[in-house]
Amino acid sequence: MPLPSPFPEGWFFVASRKELMKARLIEKTWMGENIVAWIDDDGEVCVSRAYCPHLGADLRPSVGGTVCEGRLVCPFHGYEFDTSGQCVKTPYAPAPKTAKLGVFPTHEIAGLIFAWWGIDGREPQWPLPEESPDQTDWTGLKIRTIRFPGHPQETTENSVDLAHLRYVHGYDNVKRVGRFTVDGHVLVSDFDFRSVRKLGRFGFLTFDISALTRIYGLGYSYVKIRERSVGIDMRLWILATPVDGTLIDFSIVSQVKEMRKPKRWLPGLAFLPTRFRAPLMNSFTSLQQLHDVRQDLVIWANKEYRSRPRLCRSDGEVMPFRYYCAQFYPDTGDSVTPVRAARNGAQTMETVEAG
Ligand code: FES
Ligand SMILES: [Fe+2]
Repeated sequence: MPLPSPFPEGWFFVASRKELMKARLIEKTWMGENIVAWIDDDGEVCVSRAYCPHLGADLRPSVGGTVCEGRLVCPFHGYEFDTSGQCVKTPYAPAPKTAKLGVFPTHEIAGLIFAWWGIDGREPQWPLPEESPDQTDWTGLKIRTIRFPGHPQETTENSVDLAHLRYVHGYDNVKRVGRFTVDGHVLVSDFDFRSVRKLGRFGFLTFDISALTRIYGLGYSYVKIRERSVGIDMRLWILATPVDGTLIDFSIVSQVKEMRKPKRWLPGLAFLPTRFRAPLMNSFTSLQQLHDVRQDLVIWANKEYRSRPRLCRSDGEVMPFRYYCAQFYPDTGDSVTPVRAARNGAQTMETVEAG
């Protein structure tokens, strides 16, 4: 049974502001399209299709696209575009008003840049959260991206499939203690669990976790994590972004709140100055998440999609999740391309952005 389109409608991660500041102009295959993203001197960001409205040249930096004084410059005849996508200059004539790039609407949360991908190019149908969470006393973001054959619906289903947390990840006491609700494009899934982890040479540690998950479509999941026995606050963004219809970029973004007075001391942590504790914990969290994703990956890369799963009583929310997902595949007629992720021996690729 094929999965729905590999490109559900929604907001999908493009890059961090930090990455854009460093590179100025980047290129990607994103939602089946070649895109460029760049930032101007005022910090305005533009995400657009990588083709010039003049005579169609490819604007990606690998084939000659550049950014000059904050404007994207086409390598073919030198048209220049500002971050609204408008052509504002050419080398030999007044800029034609109709020359405009195929810009995607963007939204930024905590320095993460998302762009809206709509069916047949339609406008955003719903927003991401307006507010960025307060960054005072929090570490920077650590971003790990792993690329593999997959589908964002399958990876997001993990947040409601509580049964797999025990069998795949070895968590104990997995309980839904809070809400499971669906309100339009927002799905809330709150649960508790206990995790026993190895902390390098310091032995085994037990963490009692409360996870508050907020899902805004299939490209944006945000998890507020409270570790109750030590008193650690963490934030996690799980961002699944379709690349080309088969591969997805799966980004794990994490940050940890400063730990001034832990309820109990983790081995080794007490000897560290306060300012090093949260970053160390963030590195640990990020690696643990990657470890968990690798465990899921084996399952994801080899499974079949069941549109009518034979569930048992305690599988609870898998079908409500599927009904929630249906809104991201509005009737698309011929443009729906069923996809099967490549099976067996999935190739993976990893990149890390320091927090
Ligand atoms: S094709 Fe881009 S300026 Fe001519
Ligand atoms: Fe999982």
